[in-house]
Amino acid sequence: MAVSNLAIVNAEISEIVSGLSEDRKQISPKYFYDERGSQLFDEITQLPEYYLTNTELGIMRDNIGEIVAMVGKQASLIEFGSGSSLKTRILLERLSELAAYVPVDISRKHLQTSAEQIREQFPDIDVLPVVADFTQAFALPEPRVMPVRNIVYFPGSTIGNFEQDMATDLLHVMYQEAGEGGALLIGVDLQKDPDIIESAYNDSAGVTAEFNLNVLQHLNRDYGANFNVDEFSHSANYDQAKGRVVLELVSQANQTFEVADAAFDIAAGEAILTEYSHKYTLDGFAAMANEAGFSVEKVWTDAKQLFSVQFLTRP
Ligand code: SAH
Ligand code: AVI
Repeated sequence: MAVSNLAIVNAEISEIVSGLSEDRKQISPKYFYDERGSQLFDEITQLPEYYLTNTELGIMRDNIGEIVAMVGKQASLIEFGSGSSLKTRILLERLSELAAYVPVDISRKHLQTSAEQIREQFPDIDVLPVVADFTQAFALPEPRVMPVRNIVYFPGSTIGNFEQDMATDLLHVMYQEAGEGGALLIGVDLQKDPDIIESAYNDSAGVTAEFNLNVLQHLNRDYGANFNVDEFSHSANYDQAKGRVVLELVSQANQTFEVADAAFDIAAGEAILTEYSHKYTLDGFAAMANEAGFSVEKVWTDAKQLFSVQFLTRP
């Protein structure tokens, strides 16, 4: 393993150990996404209960002409948390004069495979994948052609996986990344009937449970942990007052586990927090975007107002 990779893994182990040492044990959701986790997320997007992906795809398709006009020509499209770049393909089909497409994701193999597929499907586009944790500073590659503007793309409502302060900071990073004349195109999930939300995170096929539990497998495989995965169970509840889904792994027994050299006790019924998924009102999201420096120029939604796609500009 290269020295820099070793330094990254050591920093990640420290982060994991520190989260599990809190009074409320927690693991950052970014650890969901090893290769298996990315595959499971793709399966989630196909589930009938997981309305987010299909609704966002529908909004993109219904408004693609207007979206493409707002993005403009010769832009560099920088996507945070690109995954399989599913929604991006709708954009790339119509953005004929793109300076570059820069997908950024933490899930190395999945990103490489997706970038290869994009190159095959769109041979004229300069595809420049970056493996990085977008919550840390990372360098952007130089496109072959000088872009007229940067458009940051952040679909999927991945913004909702961050708490308010962190989400505002991340939006501000995107504001800076967009630069003068740039913009952010972002998918934002909306508050709605709690039953619809809870079903999306408790699907009948059990894929979300497997996705949640895979975080422990990932830590066992890559970070020297020894979780007994069968002794944990998936839990997802919508906290309506806070407007967020809380994903947890609940210990089924009094047990101990280790991560690298650190040992932990966990009681039966005690939970490890693995993810928040915030749902917004349009006003609540606009206030956060304004705090990060953006103006909300355009909001597209579906007929049932389940989800929104928003175009934010630098005033
Ligand atoms: N944009 C896609 C995928 C969303 S899943 C869609 O809308 O369907 C969230 C994606 O963000 C995953 O691909 C995951 O690997 C990536 N991701 C999560 N946290 C990240 C982080 N801190 N840095 C970089 N990528 C991250
Ligand atoms: C990536 N992110 C927006 C997903 C979500 O809905 O919060 C992750 C996910 N967690 C459980 N299911 C999907």
